[in-house]
Amino acid sequence: MTAVVRTRAELAAARAAAQGSVAVVMTMGALHEGHATLLREARKHGDFVLATIFVNPLQFGPNEDLARYPRTFEADLAVCEREGVDLVFAPTPEVMYPYGQPEVTVHPGPLGAVLEGAVRPGHFAGVLTVVNKLLRLTRPDAAFFGEKDYQQLTLIRAMARDLEHDAEIVGVPTVREPDGLALSSRNRYLSEDEHETALALSRALRAGAARHTPAEVLAAATAELAGLDVDYLALRGADLSEDPVSGPARLLVAARVGTTRLIDNLPVDLVTSGAADRTEEN
Ligand code: PAF
Repeated sequence: MTAVVRTRAELAAARAAAQGSVAVVMTMGALHEGHATLLREARKHGDFVLATIFVNPLQFGPNEDLARYPRTFEADLAVCEREGVDLVFAPTPEVMYPYGQPEVTVHPGPLGAVLEGAVRPGHFAGVLTVVNKLLRLTRPDAAFFGEKDYQQLTLIRAMARDLEHDAEIVGVPTVREPDGLALSSRNRYLSEDEHETALALSRALRAGAARHTPAEVLAAATAELAGLDVDYLALRGADLSEDPVSGPARLLVAARVGTTRLIDNLPVDLVTSGAADRTEEN
């Protein structure tokens, strides 16, 4: 049976009573199979699984979809029940931000200003501020985040390291539809035709990930994105450092399909061009 708490005092009491290791999954609700996978991973690692459901106003820009962001609490609770979540913390904005808009927020550093951060100014400060607060309030041993939001995951790892959080930050691979589309709460806005168009993102990533030099990776991915309203296609190091040459890297894409903005990414193994030539020959 999943218990639901909404205030800090209720959370503190439930957290104090939790036995063994605590695993947390932070969400904004509208739970889908991707979230269910995070909850299952948390269940494997933790004796006590805590999910948070909070649509964080701080991470939405003035022209973004805060008002129309899906709110499906009863269905979310059913997912939590099914996945054996022990406790759901579902605060209101007033509980999370009792003094209104916070004056002090977590600065994401240079990585917060590129890729998603370039298109969504202030977004990562909003994400890190709420994740920082939720880590303090829930005090988990481990916190689980999807690789679908790879830049968010990378920044949360950096914040946990730099701000001395004890929780282990665990990344969980992206869950996809059978046709390749990465699961996202925003997919529900896509018409059938738009869903078909959106498949170009995962196709582009797969085409790129099959190549081994940066130029080939980007060329193969770009070819699949023709005609799409692309915000960025970027090849970065696994830690999102610029201009990776060899080793584990990440290919990331963001594009608009109709009025819906989608992001996706895949790991890529880069080899230096001489070694790539030899790989092709074999
Ligand atoms: O990935 C999300 O759903 C949100 O950005 C998070 C981590 C729950 C913070 O609001």
